[in-house]
Amino acid sequence: MKTSKLASFAIILWIVSAAVFGWFFIKGNTAAVEGQRNAIMLQPAERELVLMEMRGLLGSTQGILAGLDKKDMAEVAQAARASGMGSAADVNPALMAKLPMSFKELGMSVHRAMDEIAQDAASGKPAADILNKLSNTLSSCVACHAAWQLKSE
Ligand code: HEC
Repeated sequence: MKTSKLASFAIILWIVSAAVFGWFFIKGNTAAVEGQRNAIMLQPAERELVLMEMRGLLGSTQGILAGLDKKDMAEVAQAARASGMGSAADVNPALMAKLPMSFKELGMSVHRAMDEIAQDAASGKPAADILNKLSNTLSSCVACHAAWQLKSE
C-alpha cells in the first residue's frame, strides 16, 4: 500500500515536471518590452552563444554570395555548410528551453536551408536556383529579427 502511494506520488511529480518543462519548451523565457519586439531573457553567456551563431549566419550569407559571384561552387557549399544543422546540434537543453517554439522553428528552418544550399552547390544546381533559395531564407532572418530581441538576465 505504502509503496504504491509512493509510486503514484513519483508518477504525479514526474508528470508535473514534464508539463513545466513542456510549457517552457514552447513558451521559452520571454518578456514583453516597449517597442515592437518581444525579449528573450538569457544568461550573458547564452546570449553571446546565440549572437555568435548569428554572426556565423551572416558570414555564411557573405560566403555564399561571394562564391556565387566567382562561380566557385565549392566555396558556396563550404560557406553554407558552416551554418547547417551541424552548427546547431550542440546547443544545450537549458538554453533550448528558454527559446520560444516559434524562434526554434524559424532558426532550425534557416539551418536546414543552409544544408540544402550546400547540397545544391555540391550537386551542381544552377546559381540562379541557389540565389533564389538564399533570398527566401533571408526572409526568415528578417522575420525573426522583426519579432525578437535578446536580453541578459
Ligand atoms: C529565429 C530567429 C532568428 C533568425 C532565423 C535569425 N536571427 Fe539573427 N538575430 C536574432 C536575434 C533575436 C538577434 C539579437 C537582436 C537584438 O537583441 O537586438 C539577432 C542578431 C543577429 C546579428 C547580430 C550579432 C551580434 O553579434 O550582435 C546578426 C549579424 C544576425 N542576427 C544575422 C542573421 C542572419 C544573416 C540570419 C539569416 C541567415 C539570421 N540572423 C537569422 C534572431 C534570429
